[in-house]
Amino acid sequence: MRVLGIETTCDETAAAVVQLRQGLGQSLGQGSGGGEILANEVMSQIAEHAAFGGVVPEIAARAHIDVLDRLISRALAHANIGFADLDGIAGAAGPGLIGGVVVGLTTAKALALAAGKPFIAINHLEGHALTARLTDNLDFPYLLLLVSGGHTQLIAVKSVGDYRRLGSTVDDAVGEAFDKVAKMLGLGYPGGPRVEREALMGNALRYDFPRPMLGRPKPDFSFSGLKTAVRLEAERSAPLRGVDIANLCASFQAAVVDTLIDRLRAGLRRFGEEVGPCKSMVIAGGVAANGAIRRALQRFCGESGLRLTLPPLELCTDNGAMIAWAGIERLRLGRTDDLGFPARPRWPLDGDGEAAHHGKA
Ligand code: KG4
Ligand code: ZN
Repeated sequence: MRVLGIETTCDETAAAVVQLRQGLGQSLGQGSGGGEILANEVMSQIAEHAAFGGVVPEIAARAHIDVLDRLISRALAHANIGFADLDGIAGAAGPGLIGGVVVGLTTAKALALAAGKPFIAINHLEGHALTARLTDNLDFPYLLLLVSGGHTQLIAVKSVGDYRRLGSTVDDAVGEAFDKVAKMLGLGYPGGPRVEREALMGNALRYDFPRPMLGRPKPDFSFSGLKTAVRLEAERSAPLRGVDIANLCASFQAAVVDTLIDRLRAGLRRFGEEVGPCKSMVIAGGVAANGAIRRALQRFCGESGLRLTLPPLELCTDNGAMIAWAGIERLRLGRTDDLGFPARPRWPLDGDGEAAHHGKA
């Protein structure tokens, strides 16, 4: 089974071909996942948005139009296949910037129609949630820490299409906090990798920033107070020298790490109460590329006896392989969608999110 996946919900245009590995389900060895990536083409629009300090929706939509057809051709060429060799075409239908979503979704539908292949509408968050099963032999259920530019959530992943959100941010997403801190310190866009690079050279103990929500039983997150604390400290210390910026970044990142681990503890307790004993956890989303966060999670899971799946960096940030893989997971269960499936700028994974696939939400 082979699926083409198309992703255009934010500022990455991506097309990928993923193939189901033979014998999935029973006889997979440790370390090998359910899928094999035959091609994974990603074109970042960072250069187009950098001058504006963030993603400009109209520019994003136009940039997706400019490159998507070329990326799809390239993905098929790298996979060494044609449309006739595909078993389905999956497109991210949301959540995200509506102009961009429409570009990728309409392209996916048109290709499915023209090639006479099943179409599968994918929730971008489901793509992130299931990536760990593409790369590793991982069974349901597991706890997902989803940390991206738009989302910060703890989700119990019970099966394909069955997700329970245990907690989420009440204000900024963690990636958004990284981006805003970078912006206020003049580090540019996107902020996460730049803050991480500065933090490597800084002293994390220099500033004692707040750890929001620490100890609260409900596994929610809040990052806007932390972001404000960094801004106030940056204003107090102005003009900032290189070492001040590095110290601010290191202290901010340390506060994020502590907060995530504390919230994870609360999430695990919730998981135990609502789903059952938790044996494995997964981190996904662009912020999962952060080395300090990855190391802290490895330590925490090691101490707690939890199996941790960390997708490789290029599968943490937005990509087409995660959409193609989610397409395979759905196609295997016979869950295809009709061509009337709408673009959904807002689309929760849990609650009645799954009902959207049956035209009910
Ligand atoms: O999942 P993603 O590629 O796009 C969204 O769906 O949001 O995540 C992008 C976010 C941005 O906020 C970016 O600053 C953050 O992930 N990010 C990082 C790192 N790399 C990307 N944050 C912290 N450290 C990183 N190394
Ligand atoms: Zn994402």
